[in-house]
Amino acid sequence: MERTLVLIKPDAVQRGLIGEIILRLERRGLKLIAAKFLQVNQELAETHYAVHKGKPFYEGLVRYITSSPVMAMVWEGPNAIAAVRQTMGATRPTEAAPGTIRHDFALEVGRNLTHASDSPETAAQEIALWFKPEELYPWDRATDAWIMGQN
Ligand code: GTP
Ligand code: MG
Repeated sequence: MERTLVLIKPDAVQRGLIGEIILRLERRGLKLIAAKFLQVNQELAETHYAVHKGKPFYEGLVRYITSSPVMAMVWEGPNAIAAVRQTMGATRPTEAAPGTIRHDFALEVGRNLTHASDSPETAAQEIALWFKPEELYPWDRATDAWIMGQN
């Protein structure tokens, strides 16, 4: 079972896409185990995006993520990291496949609506950065056996 950090970024919140994004992740079969709505401060933004420091888009990226509130969530499921990134689509919306969130709702890489962890290591780091352990609520879902089968 994997866990992944998902951020609904300021553009998606401003555009009223919180429900649409959660709908797609829920419908896929992923399970929400943590969520908070917050204004990101400079320190959290710089830590979260430390890997991009020095890149030409870094400063704009930090301004973007701190510009307005975000919805931060942890989603759980088999192959959750790859599954969520697939549902989000490619980083550049014009390269994202039809049916993905970035294809269906975005045009530019600098306003691409969502963030999702890209590996088990970054998922663990990012979940620890955004959530205290006691803010995670794993739960049993009646449909689990119909979504997560043996084979
Ligand atoms: P995240 O899930 O947000 O991490 O996206 P990603 O893993 O698909 O992309 P990456 O980690 O490479 O970049 C992080 C974020 O930086 C992207 O989601 C974009 O918002 C932004 N970004 C990446 N490349 C560019 C770029 O060339 N120009 C601009 N303006 N923003 C970029
Ligand atoms: Mg990334």
